Amino acid sequence: MISGRGSNMASLIAACEGKDYPADIVGVISNRQDALGLSVAAQAGIPTLVVDHSDFERREDFDAELTRRLEAFEADLVCLAGFMRLLTDGFVSQWHDKLINIHPSLLPAFKGLDPHTRALAMGIKITGCSVHFVRVELDSGPIIAQAAVPVFTGDTEETLSARVLAVEHKLYPHALALVASGRARAVGERVVIDDDDPVDTQLFSPPTKTNTV
Ligand code: GRF
Repeated sequence: MISGRGSNMASLIAACEGKDYPADIVGVISNRQDALGLSVAAQAGIPTLVVDHSDFERREDFDAELTRRLEAFEADLVCLAGFMRLLTDGFVSQWHDKLINIHPSLLPAFKGLDPHTRALAMGIKITGCSVHFVRVELDSGPIIAQAAVPVFTGDTEETLSARVLAVEHKLYPHALALVASGRARAVGERVVIDDDDPVDTQLFSPPTKTNTV
């Protein structure tokens, strides 16, 4: 589910086209008609639809419509990729351990909006991104995968978000593969991963400066 440019969605679509990738994208839902990602998905031959939140008076009704549409797609998992609506407790419970999100910080740091601006204001030296199962509290839930990204002197919100975004595009397909293949699963509030392998751990090292945007 998306609300905007959909670059993370595009990275998932590209990964799912891989021969041995353990997931397929069955559909893309946007709450905004003008989301740029909709045309990217359509060009990839993926069914898209808009469920406009402003057509619903109550959040519960909007979320119930989302569930109806997701069930019509026969979705087993729901990936939030820049989906900018708060979801109700009912929706989150209904999709418990089937709803995953990417957030551009090393959670639990910098939950919510403008994580890069706040990270820069605090002068932290390493940030990153996290993919997690969604729980009721905003940007919280068992963490599936994280990657670290260095903050450089002179970074702006623009340069830092671009550097993190490039890593998000690797991390989200990696995390979805872990969940879709059954290698990663939530056990209570932690994620257990079977057979962590060395290839996975490359994502955990900060990329060198030459690798970054
Ligand atoms: C990404 O930074 C993601 O982590 C956050 O919202 C942004 C969405 O970007 N949740 P895009 O629409 O995937 O390009």
